[in-house]
Amino acid sequence: MTRDIQMWNVPNRVLFGWGSVEQVGEYIAEFDAERALVVTDSGVEAAGVLDPLLESIDDAGKTYEVWAGVEPDPTDEVVHEAAAAYHEADADLVLGVGGGSSIDTAKATAILATNDGGILDYKGSGNVSDELPPTVYVPTTAGTGSEVGHWTIVKDAETNVKEEIGDVKLLADLAVVDPELTASAPEPVKAATGMDVLTHAVEAYVSIKAQSQTSALALDSIEKVGRYLPRAVEYRGGDREALSKMARASTQAGMAFNGAGLGAVHAISHQIGGKFGVPHGLANAIVLPYVMEYNLPQVPELLVEVAEALGEDVDRSKPASVEAYKAVRATRRLAESVRIPETLAATDAEADAIPELAEQALDDGSLTGNPRTTEREDLEEILENAFAGEFRYDSVL
Ligand SMILES: [Fe+2]
Repeated sequence: MTRDIQMWNVPNRVLFGWGSVEQVGEYIAEFDAERALVVTDSGVEAAGVLDPLLESIDDAGKTYEVWAGVEPDPTDEVVHEAAAAYHEADADLVLGVGGGSSIDTAKATAILATNDGGILDYKGSGNVSDELPPTVYVPTTAGTGSEVGHWTIVKDAETNVKEEIGDVKLLADLAVVDPELTASAPEPVKAATGMDVLTHAVEAYVSIKAQSQTSALALDSIEKVGRYLPRAVEYRGGDREALSKMARASTQAGMAFNGAGLGAVHAISHQIGGKFGVPHGLANAIVLPYVMEYNLPQVPELLVEVAEALGEDVDRSKPASVEAYKAVRATRRLAESVRIPETLAATDAEADAIPELAEQALDDGSLTGNPRTTEREDLEEILENAFAGEFRYDSVL
């Protein structure tokens, strides 16, 4: 008899709801900490998103220092600046507020709050030795799901490679998901981050490491993104329902992939982001349907479920290997509806780099969840299709 022992890592507590950020101080008051370093970026600071949060920290009788130096795709250098700010501020709590880059920087800062050396000394899984200070993560996009994960991504400034650092110590003591904070993001950001949510959910759903609970969260997340992403991107007249559903989908997908892992989409997009600075969500949004087509022969039944969750009319009397193409087509249609280009050629990425990108993607930890075995030549083929806009579903369906 084979034993099937799995570990599902989730944060201690998740506070969810419109306006919930006003309660952050009440929960921080319960921690053994007096002074927070708020790790964020200048855009979040300028948008006034921090105001209710800082007010609630004041009301709880705690103090804070704001460090707004986060940059997209944070490097080890950025993280070291944040860590220096933490020590200079004499802080004893890390509060990350923003998109994935801010929360990833906050996680890395929390590592260096109590652990010596440089952040890249901790790359890989399970290499953090000392306990971290209390951590609170507050996303302003829907999103990376980083607030509920135990991974952070830091770019090596010398090599431009995005390195993954994972440890259960990185799980938040408190994740605060307030959909209101996502309202002010520009439309292209909402579109790209929303497609990132779909990518997390689809990759987790078809992952070889999927578990029943991660699959339940992932499938529900896929259905929510399919139904609410276009409305959340438009956000005419204050569509609270759409933003709330997307925020929930983001956090659920984050929990799903934190247990089930990801796949070839993220393995590829990490390289495109590292080398060409293409935003993470945008790279995923473009590459996702091409990888779904590649994986289709391995997981046709699962992709039929994805098609149904995305609202496709599936004919169960037909072979799953045919109907599964509807998931690929529905994914591309959804991306198109929020103005995501069809090919990587429409971004700053360059096709000349395909061999290099494929080589690096082979070493990316995300690839270990991909359901179909993926060699370097396969990654090159996926990339070539994604640059050329070659889809098979037109001839199949
Ligand atoms: Fe992602």
